[in-house]
Amino acid sequence: MKNLLVTGGAGFIGSNFVRYMFQEYPQYNIVVYDKLTYAGNLENLRDVARDPRYAFVRGDICDADAVRDALRKHHIDAIVNFAAESHVDRSILDADAFLRTNVMGTFVLLEAAKEFGLERYHQISSDEVYGWVDKPALETDPLIPRSPYAAAKASGDLMVNAYYVTHGVPTTITRGSNTVGPYQYPEKVVPLFVTNALENLPLPLYGDGKQVRDWLYVTDHCEAVDLVLHQGKIGEVYNVGGENERENVEVVKIILDTLDKAPDLVRRVTDRSGHDRRYALDLEKIRALGWQPRHSFEQALTDTIEWYANNAWWWQKIKRGEYREYYEKQYGERLRTSEAVAV
Ligand code: NAD
Ligand code: TYD
Repeated sequence: MKNLLVTGGAGFIGSNFVRYMFQEYPQYNIVVYDKLTYAGNLENLRDVARDPRYAFVRGDICDADAVRDALRKHHIDAIVNFAAESHVDRSILDADAFLRTNVMGTFVLLEAAKEFGLERYHQISSDEVYGWVDKPALETDPLIPRSPYAAAKASGDLMVNAYYVTHGVPTTITRGSNTVGPYQYPEKVVPLFVTNALENLPLPLYGDGKQVRDWLYVTDHCEAVDLVLHQGKIGEVYNVGGENERENVEVVKIILDTLDKAPDLVRRVTDRSGHDRRYALDLEKIRALGWQPRHSFEQALTDTIEWYANNAWWWQKIKRGEYREYYEKQYGERLRTSEAVAV
């Protein structure tokens, strides 16, 4: 394996993965294939832009001809698919692009992997495919997705498995938990709350704030993907979590304390429809491969907060663009009818 196609590599986790892989594997060439949706940003990759081992192709994973061209031209051995519509709230507002990219796009990539006889097709999936759990999910647990985002990701996973079983495509899947770190678009809760707090804007907490997520630092996520890509068993699924289950109110408290902001910035707003109360993963399987998360919850969060505090150039530009329209649609009415809440 030498030439990788990293789809969605201009997004949050994909761009961190590219940086990580160049450090770990100096002999690898990486082609980022990305549509550059609202979430894709070449500034996330600016420190590798001149690296001779790097190439960028602007393209849609649903475009079979463009995918084939990229595989042929760059002699690709393996695809790592990060490309997705990734935000639950946007999937509630409009699920169309989620089905196209997360389901049809995955199918197009699998077909291409089959046609070109690739060494590996690796799918980046999510803990959300298991739905709201009352105990840490095992890889063999049923998929009971509850949001349009999660349903589309689960459909992608099912198609990956079908291509392994039916066509013998050498696939692997990782199901990661909520990831934080540099370059995450400020629609997800941590960068949204951190950047709002830095600007003294309200932090819109959904419902009672007692929903639980398992927080994972992005480089830990990348290490796990690397390990599964090189040592994972073909046809298998691996959970990747941070072992940091925390309620949203605890996340908010750390953000406020770290930035020395007053608690009255927090507003209780109308809850997300169908909001999953808890995601949690059993990690035994990936532990057996020799992986464990390196970052504690506090370290993951403080490193992330520090990056946003030091890189306002990156997120201020984003918050002036398309983001404003989305923010008004998602939070305008919610914030006008919100109440202050003690955390
Ligand atoms: P992101 O939204 O930051 O980036 C997604 C990238 O995919 C963007 O660069 C975008 O331009 C690109 N893209 C979207 N549609 C495309 C298409 N049709 N063709 C080509 N490129 C397209 O997402 P992220 O947070 O980095 O997530 C990456 C992957 O990890 C996704 O598959 C997501 O489901 C999964 N995941 C994310 C998290 C998380 O906490 N962020 C957790 C677990 C799993
Ligand atoms: P999010 O970052 O959207 O990730 P996901 O829903 O995919 O886990 O949200 C993380 C948690 O934060 C989730 O319980 C919803 C909550 N949340 C808020 O309370 N307010 C917000 O404005 C957002 C975006 C999320």
